[in-house]
Amino acid sequence: MSSSEVYTASTTAPVNIAVIKYWGKRDPKLNLPTNSSLSVTLAQSDLRTHTTASCSPSYPPQDSLLLNGSEQDVSGPRTQACFRELRALRKQLEDANPELPKLSSLPLKIVSENNFPTAAGLASSAAGFAALVRAIANLYELPSSPTDLSRIARQGSGSACRSLFGGYVGWEQGSAADGSDSVAFQVAPASHWPQMRALILVVSAAKKGVSSTTGMQTTVATSSLFPARANETVPRRMKEMISAIENRDFEAFGKLTMMDSNSFHATCLDTYPPIFYLNDVSRAAIKVVEAINKKAGRIVAAYTFDAGPNAVVYYLEEREKEVAGLFKAVLGEKDGWQGERGERVQRDAEGLEHIR
Ligand code: DP6
Repeated sequence: MSSSEVYTASTTAPVNIAVIKYWGKRDPKLNLPTNSSLSVTLAQSDLRTHTTASCSPSYPPQDSLLLNGSEQDVSGPRTQACFRELRALRKQLEDANPELPKLSSLPLKIVSENNFPTAAGLASSAAGFAALVRAIANLYELPSSPTDLSRIARQGSGSACRSLFGGYVGWEQGSAADGSDSVAFQVAPASHWPQMRALILVVSAAKKGVSSTTGMQTTVATSSLFPARANETVPRRMKEMISAIENRDFEAFGKLTMMDSNSFHATCLDTYPPIFYLNDVSRAAIKVVEAINKKAGRIVAAYTFDAGPNAVVYYLEEREKEVAGLFKAVLGEKDGWQGERGERVQRDAEGLEHIR
C-alpha cells in the first residue's frame, strides 16, 4: 500500500427506543445485562447516526473520533474494546490472506454526525456505537453478521447492540460469562407493522443528571424492587411483548410498554439515593396519553421514558389525529418539527405547563 492511501467506508445506524428496558449490568466490563430487553427502531422518523471510518498510513498515529464536529476522547475502555475486537478480526483476515493490506495496524479516523438535532436530548450512544462498529467492520471488510457486530457494539453501550437491526429488536441477556450469547436479534422487521409511529416529546434537551451507567449500577446495588423486576417481571413481559408484536396487538403492546416504563422508573425511585428522571412535564405527558386512551375507550397511545424526562409516545398511523393531533394542538406548531412520517414535537418545559 502507498503511504498516502486512505481506506474508507460509511454507514448509518438508527436510534432505538426500548419498550422493555435494559437497566442493570451483571458484568459492567463486558456490558452484560441483568435482563433481556426489546426496542423499536425509529426508522420511520429516520433518526440516525451517519459514520465514516477511515484509516491510512498518512494519519497521525492516534485513533480519533469526531462527533458532530467535536473531537471525542477515544481512550475510554468502551471505545477501546470496540476498536480492539474489530482490529483482532481484521488481523485474523490478514493472517489468513497475506495479500490483504494491513489495515489492522493503521490509525483509525472516525467521523460521526447525528441527523437529528442534538438538542433533541435523545440517547444517541445506541445509534453512535452501532454506526461506529459497522463502519469499521465495513472498512475492514469483515464477514461478520449483524449478530456478531451486536456482540461488539454492546461493549460500547448496551443499548447499541439493538441498533444493528431494524424494526422490533430484542437483546437476549445470555448466560455465558464471556458474553458470547448476549446478542441482539430481530423479532420482526419494521415492514411487519409499518403503521407504527412514534412521537418524541422533548421536555428537556439538557444532558441527563445521572448517566445510565451510574444509575443502573446504583439501582442494582440498592433497590429492593429490582430483583423482582429483573428476575420475574421482565422475563414474563418479554414473552408477552414478543407475541403482542407478532400479533400486531397494539393494546397489549401499549400496555406492556407503559407498564415497563413505570416499573423501570419505580426502581429508579427505589434506588438509594433516589434517581428522578421524570419531571412534572413528563407526568403531564402521561396524563395526556391517559386522557387520549380514556376517550378512545382503549389503548391507542403508549408512553415510555428512558433515563431522562423526554417522552416517546407510540401509536398507530390510523390514530394520528387523536394522538399526534392532540399533542400538537396542546403544544402548538411553533417549536414543532415534523418528520416525513411520524411526528416529532419539540418544545421547552414551559410550553407544556398548561396541559396539566
Ligand atoms: C434507559 O445503553 O445507555 O435507555 O450500557 O451503560 O451504555 P450503557 O447504558 P445505555 O442504557 C440504556 C438504558 C435505557 C433503557 C434501554 O435503552 O433499554
